[in-house]
Amino acid sequence: MKLDPHDLIASLGGDAAVAAMSHEERADALEHYMFRATVAGKVPSVAEVEAQITTRPSRRGVGNLFVSHSGNMKVLPEMPENPALADFFKLRFQTTSNHVLQSANLAMKNGMSEEIILACLLHDTVQELIKVDHGWWAAMLYEPYVSEKVAFAIRYHQALRFYEDKDAGYGYPDVYRRMFGYDYKPEPYIEAAYQMVRKHKWYMEPRMVTVNDLYAFEPGVNPELEQFTDIIGRHFKQPKEGLGYDNSPVAHIWRSIARPDMPL
Ligand SMILES: [Fe+2]
Ligand SMILES: [Fe+2]
Repeated sequence: MKLDPHDLIASLGGDAAVAAMSHEERADALEHYMFRATVAGKVPSVAEVEAQITTRPSRRGVGNLFVSHSGNMKVLPEMPENPALADFFKLRFQTTSNHVLQSANLAMKNGMSEEIILACLLHDTVQELIKVDHGWWAAMLYEPYVSEKVAFAIRYHQALRFYEDKDAGYGYPDVYRRMFGYDYKPEPYIEAAYQMVRKHKWYMEPRMVTVNDLYAFEPGVNPELEQFTDIIGRHFKQPKEGLGYDNSPVAHIWRSIARPDMPL
């Protein structure tokens, strides 16, 4: 953070006022100044994040398919009759696919297992439908079609994102301070999930999703889904009726992603 000494002195009442202060008073004043500057620098507090609720026409947990942040909605391309995962990637995962492809690409470069690469490829795609608790929603969406380990990695990457593991190469993301507030403390259910996973023999599965989860879009890196065709083929049980039409307990969730314009 950049400190402007003129602004600081002025905010304390000018040179004379600062000269009259004790060493401790100055230290205190500096701390308050830094705190206010942090807030002004657009890193909000939890209270400030909450105050934004009434300034928006939609809630932050709504999925990308259902809300536009610039202009009106566009007509979605039609889905094939028996849609496969690749069709959802190309026709519905429009706002998340680049991020998850970059993440899976990084996991591949880092020599991760095929299951971790697949978990990276799928980890945030459910945000097209819903953002709140996306780890749990995503695991539910994919559970019938992937191994238990892949579903575990997807489910718990959400909770692990809030907890550093420097040894594994993961630090708390700066973007979370802006998104949740700098003084945010994860809810007890997130903390409980973290504590459980930390001791679990599969801890490194979701942890490696967080390590390969890019904080920002890498310009110029646009991996194609085809790079992962073999991994999908080996680890994703594509139903022959198509996702949404296989009578699985999550078929309606796939249909909701395929047909978000349905009024009921
Ligand atoms: Fe995520
Ligand atoms: Fe992500």
